[in-house]
Amino acid sequence: MAASSASPENNGNRRTPTGIPGLDKLLSGGLPKGRIILLTGGPGTGKTILSSQYLVNGIMDYDENGVYVSLDENKQHVFEEMVDFGWDLPELEHQKRLIFLEASPIRYLPAEIKVGRLTVGRKEFSMATLVEMIKTSVKEIDAKRIVVDPVTTLVFQYDGVVNQRNALVELIEALADTGATCIITTELRRPGFERNVDYEEYLAHGVVLLQQLQVGKSLLRVIQIEKMRKTPVDNQPRPYRITDSGIEVFPRESVL
Ligand SMILES: Nc1ncnc2c1ncn2[C@@H]1O[C@H](COP(=O)(O)OP(=O)(O)O)[C@@H](O)[C@H]1O
Ligand SMILES: [Mg+2]
Repeated sequence: MAASSASPENNGNRRTPTGIPGLDKLLSGGLPKGRIILLTGGPGTGKTILSSQYLVNGIMDYDENGVYVSLDENKQHVFEEMVDFGWDLPELEHQKRLIFLEASPIRYLPAEIKVGRLTVGRKEFSMATLVEMIKTSVKEIDAKRIVVDPVTTLVFQYDGVVNQRNALVELIEALADTGATCIITTELRRPGFERNVDYEEYLAHGVVLLQQLQVGKSLLRVIQIEKMRKTPVDNQPRPYRITDSGIEVFPRESVL
């Protein structure tokens, strides 16, 4: 008699498939359900594309609604960029399967901050405001997936490592409370070089790293599952590419 198809390591460990070609292979089926995963990489490595693809796949293929919190880019910009991949975010929002929270004015309009439908003064803004907006949105559409992209700007508004860490803890705890499977992105400060080990990595349940490596004259895109608690993962660096249909990972190809 053959063994049961469920592997023992996965018992009680439910997965949220990303639906991104090749990626779920590295993750034993998907992200750990209900957990907070840090997606880190330099500018242009595909964090926003991967995040959008994760939410769109959730909606289209797994019937899981999503909330996108955009802290750097405005909604129109992200919507326009994602059309190139065939993802109609405005339509998903219209269908109430996606809520896009734009908190980008944090950076550009220091006197006044718009978070969803709320406008608050710069001083009154706090992580609590954002957290409230996220919770309300999650309830509104019963979201099972959340993306916060990128968390860097938000966290660095706070002075000092202690305040920054506290702000991030507040955000991560609130995200965990929702029960959704969450991706938060951070900008890698020195892509391709030795990296500061960022304190946020200790707070997340998993860390996925995106890099661009110079190989001869060409750039090679590399993805690596650095850490994923309670999950048997492939932690080797693997190549990925960005095409007209989004991110594709090559889980069997080696880069070393
Ligand atoms: N249709 C496409 N085909 C190939 N690469 C693309 C396409 N559209 C965008 N890109 C690449 O995607 C990258 C931008 O992805 P993005 O998710 O915005 O990065 P990040 O959020 O990490 O800064 C750029 O490097 C760009 O060259
Ligand atoms: Mg981005």
